Amino acid sequence: MCGIIGYCGRKPAVPVIIEALRCLEYRGYDSAGVASLCDGELLIRKDAGKVEEVIQKHELAGLPGNVAIGHTRWATHGGVSQLNAHPHSDCGGRVAVVHNGIIENNQELRQELTARGHRFSSETDTEVIPHLLEDELKNGRSLEQAVLSIAPKIEGSYALLALSLDDPGRIIGTRKNNPLIVGIDDHDYYISSDALAFSQYTGQVMGLEDNEVVVLAQGGIHFVDARGNRVAKQARKLDHSWAVSDKGAYQHFMLKEIMEQAQVLSRIVEQDGKMFTEIALDILRARQVIVTACGTSRYAALVGRYLFSRVGKKFCDVVMASEFGYFADSVDKNTVVIAVSQSGETADVVEGVKAAREAGAQIISIVNRPNSILTDLSHRVIYLNCGSEIAVAATKSFLCQLAIFYLLAFSMVNSFDAAVARLSDLAGDITRVLDWNKSELIKLSDRLQDKTDAYYIARGINFAIASEGALKLKEISYVHAEGMPAGELKHGTLALIEPGTPVVVICPADYTFAETLSNAIETRSRGAYIIGVSDRDSDIYDSWIRIPEVDELLYPMVAVVPLQLLAYYIAISRGCDPDKPRNLAKSVTVK
Ligand code: G6P
Repeated sequence: MCGIIGYCGRKPAVPVIIEALRCLEYRGYDSAGVASLCDGELLIRKDAGKVEEVIQKHELAGLPGNVAIGHTRWATHGGVSQLNAHPHSDCGGRVAVVHNGIIENNQELRQELTARGHRFSSETDTEVIPHLLEDELKNGRSLEQAVLSIAPKIEGSYALLALSLDDPGRIIGTRKNNPLIVGIDDHDYYISSDALAFSQYTGQVMGLEDNEVVVLAQGGIHFVDARGNRVAKQARKLDHSWAVSDKGAYQHFMLKEIMEQAQVLSRIVEQDGKMFTEIALDILRARQVIVTACGTSRYAALVGRYLFSRVGKKFCDVVMASEFGYFADSVDKNTVVIAVSQSGETADVVEGVKAAREAGAQIISIVNRPNSILTDLSHRVIYLNCGSEIAVAATKSFLCQLAIFYLLAFSMVNSFDAAVARLSDLAGDITRVLDWNKSELIKLSDRLQDKTDAYYIARGINFAIASEGALKLKEISYVHAEGMPAGELKHGTLALIEPGTPVVVICPADYTFAETLSNAIETRSRGAYIIGVSDRDSDIYDSWIRIPEVDELLYPMVAVVPLQLLAYYIAISRGCDPDKPRNLAKSVTVK
């Protein structure tokens, strides 16, 4: 949800910023812009449109300067327009600011500033920041002092970078509840929402705590706390395997990420059995266990709930992170909260976890991105180890989240090693399911491309796969889709089935088979077009997506993969960009 980048050093800055914006586009892609300081001028170029369009239209590559900042936007306050694109400036065009997050008291600040004579040119919450800085700079403060002095006035969450003609040659950055990381390569300094943006130049990184301020100058770098006292920092090494963001031979990141699932699953052997056993014991001992997550991660949690109950005989509840706060009263020190998040920065998850931690709960997080906000808030962290996931729609991270829940459930009955062995064997099944179905799924996507609605049904442990399959379709193809427990269909949704309505039936030959099939027959009697996802063929399927026969607790993992691919091919046949679906972003850092 908005990506920010700054560079200060010996190289021409804007080419560095451009490359970084391409990497950060997954965080937002409705507008982009840069600001560069050069020879006493502050050059700002910005516009609505995807990063590549803005780069071409404004010939960004030709902008001079060795100090620059950039932004890729996912609109929150103010529509998608050139004026609302970042960087934002003050009245005199002497300050430029890029920001990720939400300034909650922006209306009050805007009123105060307007009353003092400031003129605003955008509808964004961000624009209050350069105007606040303008006043401080006019009072003779340095940019560093100005940032320190305005930070307490800003309510909400932010990661921001500022540069100014009045204090040239430096970039000031600060953050609160939004990510910001510094990269160092000798006398070249980088700062961004994600180290991916500069990982091609350096693997030496330094984190920034909430409310700390960093000063990147051409002669060096330093950090201060909220009171302006110097803070010493040690650089650490970036895990480069995580930072790779190359599409390889694939047309889209989403396809690449679907196709590499067998490979990422085989990394499950690297998980630490001792840690899983300790966490499993904590879960078993807890008075209550609540899993909180959003989107795809929540569907993984729903599968986890079945696994915990079936294997560990431990009931847990799964609460949508945006609703979690409303249950905060019942969280206490006897509660284990498991937070699931690929990015580790989803605002709703982070906020719930903070509240739960304050209430004394033990926090276990399941995340992909190393050193995220969520990992800092957790007592225990389990990493997915699936590498960077760039496509907005989650695929490989979901498979790894399922694998982690499987390991946790089996650790509850002291069977971590056996579970690792079973998951390792599953890598071959994932490859098989892709090989078996690829051409059939392409044909099916042609048949379904003009449909306006689709329904996905399943039971028991497979139910969440129906929801995840439907989510993939709506996210990237803009087709209305609903996933639900098959038994629930007749309580309303059956009224929507018409001749030709696609119904995807996930019915592996397990304990859910007979009843799910019978619900599918009810839709077929109303003319539905049945797509069966199963290891067992049936006369009632109009199309069969064949999955391998596996242990019944592992069916979710083999069933979800062809549904991801089906959504991908439908998106392609409808002319949609699966990597950058409209209105969505990969990291949702606002509530
Ligand atoms: C966004 C993404 C989804 C993701 C969800 C939760 O909506 O588009 O793909 O599932 O956020 O993200 P998280 O990083 O917390 O798993």
